[in-house]
Amino acid sequence: MDGNEPITRNGQRIPNGMLQENYPRNMWWVAAHSREVTSKPLARWILETPVVLYRLEDGKPAALYDRCPHRWAPLSEGHVDGDKIVCPYHGMEFNSEGLCTKAPTQHMKPKRAEIPSFAVREAGAFIWIWMGEQDSIDCDPPEVDYQVDPNWSFLDGYYEVAANWVLIRENVMDLTHIAFLHKNTFKQNDWVTPPDHYMEGDTVCYEQDFDLAPLSPLFCAGMGLPEDKPIKRTQKGRMPSLAISFSDWVVHDPTPEPDARAEFVMRGCHIVIPSVRGKTHYFWGAAFDVPSITDDVAEKTKASIVVAFDEDKHLLEIMQKQISKDPRGLDFLEVTLGADGAGIFVRQILNKKLKAEGRPL
Ligand code: FES
Ligand SMILES: [Fe+2]
Repeated sequence: MDGNEPITRNGQRIPNGMLQENYPRNMWWVAAHSREVTSKPLARWILETPVVLYRLEDGKPAALYDRCPHRWAPLSEGHVDGDKIVCPYHGMEFNSEGLCTKAPTQHMKPKRAEIPSFAVREAGAFIWIWMGEQDSIDCDPPEVDYQVDPNWSFLDGYYEVAANWVLIRENVMDLTHIAFLHKNTFKQNDWVTPPDHYMEGDTVCYEQDFDLAPLSPLFCAGMGLPEDKPIKRTQKGRMPSLAISFSDWVVHDPTPEPDARAEFVMRGCHIVIPSVRGKTHYFWGAAFDVPSITDDVAEKTKASIVVAFDEDKHLLEIMQKQISKDPRGLDFLEVTLGADGAGIFVRQILNKKLKAEGRPL
C-alpha cells in the first residue's frame, strides 16, 4: 500500500463526511463577528469560497464573491467607496449586488461583469450569510439576543482549526469528553454518564442533572461562587442549526449567602463555519447571565477557557491529520456509545440536508 489508494467511505454507519465536501449550502452560516466587518474589506473563506465582507454607508453588511471578473484580483485587497467596492488592480467598481457600475478604462460597462453576491443578516453579535441558492432562503438566522443583552456578559474568541467542521460540531454536542480530555482544565469530572437527548422541532437537545459537586473553576469567578462550594447543576445543550449550538451550565447554589443570588447560567456558544477543505472557523462564546463582570474576571475566565479549548483543537487537528493520511479513510470500525445520542442526531440532520441538496454523503 503506498497511501494513494482511493479512500472508501463505508465504515461509518451514519457518515459525517469529514474527508469530503460535507457542508450544506442552503442554510445560514456565520460569516464574521459584527465588529470585524467595517468599511475596510474583510476577506474570509467560507464553504470553500472566497468572500469579501464590508459595510455600506447605512451600516448594513454586504458580501460578494472575492474575485474580480476582470483578471481575478481579490476585491478584498481594494477599498470601499460609498456603497461600492473598488478593485485594487484596474479600478472596476461593483455594487453590493455584484453588478459592475464602472470600468474606468472605458466608457461602456462590460456587459457580463457581474459577480455573485450573498444574502447577509446581522443578528446578535454576528453577521450571518446564506451561500446557497439565494431564492431558497426560507428561515431567519437562529435567535441569539443574549449575546448583546446588557443583562448578560458575553466573552468570545476565535480559532482557525485544521479539522473538518463536523468534528468540532460533534465535539461540542458531546460534552462527556470534558471529564477526560479536560480533566485538568474544566475539572468537571463528574460528567461520566450519558445525558438524555431529544429533538424539539428541528433543534437537537440534551439535558442532564448533577448532584452536589464543586463547579468547574472556569466559571466560578464569573458567578462569584467559591471553587470548593458544592452546587447543583443541570447541563442543557441546544443545537438549533448545524452552524451554532449552545451548552448551558444552569447552576443552583443551595446555600447562598444572605442577599446573594442562588441561580446562574453560563451559556457556551459554539459557532462553526467550513472554510477551505480541512479547515474550520470556530467562534466560541461564554455568556454569563450576570450584567457586568469585571474586566479582570473576564480576562482570567477567557484565558482559562482558551487553555481548555486548546486541548480540543490539538486533538481534533491530530484526528483530522491521521484519518486523512490513513488510506482506509472512513472505512474503519466506528463504535457508537450511549452518550453519542445528540451527535447521532447531528449526523442525521446533516445527511438529510445534503440529500435535499442532491449531494448525499
Ligand atoms: S482585476 Fe479587477 S479591475 Fe482588473
Ligand atoms: Fe472540549
